Amino acid sequence: MPLTHTRELFAKALKGKYALGAFNVNNMELLQAIVEACEEEKAPVMLQISKGARSYANPVYLKKLIEAAISVTNVPIAVHLDHGDSFELCKECIDEGFTSVMIDASHEPFEKNVEVCRKVVDYAHKHDCVVEGELGHLVGAQFDEGEEGGRYSTEGHYTHPEEAVKFVKESGVDSLAVAIGNSHGAYKFKGEQHLDLDRLKSIKKALMDAGMGDYPLVLHGASSVPADLVEQINENGGGMGTDTAGVPEADIEVARRVGCTKVNIDTDLRLAMTAAIRKVFKQNPKEFDPRKYLAPARTQVKELVRHKVRDVLCCAGHAFD
Ligand code: G3H
Ligand code: 13P
Ligand code: ZN
Repeated sequence: MPLTHTRELFAKALKGKYALGAFNVNNMELLQAIVEACEEEKAPVMLQISKGARSYANPVYLKKLIEAAISVTNVPIAVHLDHGDSFELCKECIDEGFTSVMIDASHEPFEKNVEVCRKVVDYAHKHDCVVEGELGHLVGAQFDEGEEGGRYSTEGHYTHPEEAVKFVKESGVDSLAVAIGNSHGAYKFKGEQHLDLDRLKSIKKALMDAGMGDYPLVLHGASSVPADLVEQINENGGGMGTDTAGVPEADIEVARRVGCTKVNIDTDLRLAMTAAIRKVFKQNPKEFDPRKYLAPARTQVKELVRHKVRDVLCCAGHAFD
């Protein structure tokens, strides 16, 4: 099956009311784990590549690995640039055949963010590629004093519904990554903090009311940081803090129902892989054959992806809709 366009995956996900998992790929084992799980669960999938992944693995290796995955896998696969930080990087990926790119100029003032996105959109749309923009800052609730224990941003970090409408209209982006208290990594919240799901609903409604239809929203920082994986890491020589915290899966479910069409997951894959490798080394310190620790790591990532697509994102079974 050839690469499937992100546009097509989004349209079907919106219609079917499920979310697409956008899983980060950095090496062969992660890629195999993701596509094998999705194939077994008949789930469409987005593979996303960051700038860091490109410099770690080399864009050509990643391209060839993904080509291999596509040739041996029978589910729809789209390829996306995660957190593109310049027009040049987005252009490179568009020219390489990525089906979507993210241009992340969210650190810029509103007008500059629009301008940078517009430039990428103009190029992408001429080359059959769609674009994700971001409005707001993924500082995470823990770094935002806000009100009520940091739930609401008073610093203006979170995405404002009316600004989202203006941003989408002016930039022309095809999907929007929102800031609603989400952040990357394994330490997302402290205390009772959680995602501002009411704000997510307001953003979706504002876009709908402005005539943009069922507009696709993107949730970054959607790892749930499973306690059992953190425990497995720590029981096997790791030193992750006691303050790890992810997005509860119940909140991801709400986000999916509200209309987050693309849900980004990287940290959980890293935790699953690291936990499995640590366990092998703890149980057999003499082991030095990489296949002996990478194979269980791949299996553990695969089971995690299976769980996400089946039980959380509900995209399992939708590969051939
Ligand atoms: O958003 C960040 C992703 O987890 C990618 O991380 O830039 O370390 O590859 P990275
Ligand atoms: P996590 O760190 O929560 O996995 O988020 C990944 C992400 O948003 C990639 O863009
Ligand atoms: Zn992200």
